[in-house]
Amino acid sequence: MRLALLGCGTVGSEVVRLLHEQSADLAARIGAPLEIAGIAVRRHGRDRGDLPVDPALFTTDPLALIKSDDVDVVVEMVGGIEPARTWLVEALRAGKSVVTANKALLAEDGGALHDAAAEGGADLYYEASVAGAIPLLRPLRESLHGDRINRVTGIVNGTTNFILSAMDASGAGFAEALEEATELGYAEADPTADVEGFDAAAKAAILASLAFHTRVGAADVYREGITEVTAADMASAKAMGCTIKLLCIAARGADPQGRETVSVRVHPAMIPLSHPLASVGDAFNAVFVEAEAAGQLMFYGRGAGGAPTASAVLGDVVAVARNRLAGARAASESAYADLSVRPMGEALTRYHISLDVADRPGVLASVAGVFARHDVSIATVRQGSAEAGSGRGEDADLVIVTHVAPDAALAATVRELRGLDTVRSVTSVLRVEGGV
Ligand SMILES: NC(=O)c1ccc[n+]([C@@H]2O[C@H](COP(=O)([O-])OP(=O)(O)OC[C@H]3O[C@@H](n4cnc5c(N)ncnc54)[C@H](OP(=O)(O)O)[C@@H]3O)[C@@H](O)[C@H]2O)c1
Repeated sequence: MRLALLGCGTVGSEVVRLLHEQSADLAARIGAPLEIAGIAVRRHGRDRGDLPVDPALFTTDPLALIKSDDVDVVVEMVGGIEPARTWLVEALRAGKSVVTANKALLAEDGGALHDAAAEGGADLYYEASVAGAIPLLRPLRESLHGDRINRVTGIVNGTTNFILSAMDASGAGFAEALEEATELGYAEADPTADVEGFDAAAKAAILASLAFHTRVGAADVYREGITEVTAADMASAKAMGCTIKLLCIAARGADPQGRETVSVRVHPAMIPLSHPLASVGDAFNAVFVEAEAAGQLMFYGRGAGGAPTASAVLGDVVAVARNRLAGARAASESAYADLSVRPMGEALTRYHISLDVADRPGVLASVAGVFARHDVSIATVRQGSAEAGSGRGEDADLVIVTHVAPDAALAATVRELRGLDTVRSVTSVLRVEGGV
């Protein structure tokens, strides 16, 4: 079984190492040895340390390697949309199985890959693209195919989870926690994809597509990052017995006509400490799946890193290699449900809103009136101690948690609150998930 490896960086080099160290076991499990036909990289002369591989296998011509007659499986560990899409479509159309870790490409244009796989009668596996080492996509695309999944809630980005966990543990602000994450190697020099939620949104699209048998792309996912989460937000969450996590949430719903829909969103949210995802600390990932018959399932582990991700890549390589030897192909994409994606404004959420208000009679009534006008029902109101204000008299902190309402109604409520003359400022707005 001949492999074309595309990329030999953090993930690729660990794949090469594991292929070498476990070659006898892998051959026994598959029923044939795995051989590296070539390794495509960008820089030929790059120092690859003591990588146990023949230097003559390196090439800077991925397309020639993919097209080579003696390649059975293409393993893509480069990343990005192009030229990865061109390479993988070429490989799949030619009937070569593909294993990829490329979440960005799958979320941007997974359809092109699935269509090419169907055309070429080839396998397309991508376990490593979401939650690194955690076996998650195979359970969604195989084990749970007899069930009906209603909701998937996950912590799927290790960098942001490290930052929020540090803020929770030490009371640090976002900038300070990001600095610590960068120093420890948990955040990239440019952390935008992680802290702004783009990485989590790509994974949310992949999870939603698999869980609900439909096509969801990155553009369908509502996205907010964690850059606006403050130490005060975290303290407020703690006061309520909660913590703040960057969640990806994919859920079934229905439109006003009763047609089934799906909503997919990524944003920071308060969750109660009793929620299984609240105890997921450091850079770990976890995904909580709620299915009709299976009930609640939790998948937990390392979501990134060379060796953990390589484990998922190799698991896929073994699966596609076995299929090829058996002359078989795994079930193709299941997107028959063809659900429409509900806009964020219609998503049903709850808000936690902190206000700095004038401490005088009638303020509570005026604030409550705004909620009532937008048909948003208040679950709890907490008033903090009065303190000296901005020179305009006494201020008070007001913390309001709502019942479930459409996100658009909640956002309109906050907008109107900001304009109220009794409201000095809206100090924090967070969505709330789980039974707070
Ligand atoms: N790192 C993780 O923890 C992790 C976890 C889950 C998924 N992933 C996914 O895995 C993939 C790879 O990530 P990584 O962290 O291993 O990336 P990386 O360390 O930056 O490695 C990228 C590799 O691709 C090669 N490359 C880049 N452009 C190329 C081109 N045009 N032609 C041929 N080769 C090219 C590079 O060659 P040179 O070596 O010559 O520079 C390098 O070997 C990405 O899709 C990523 O999202 C990564």
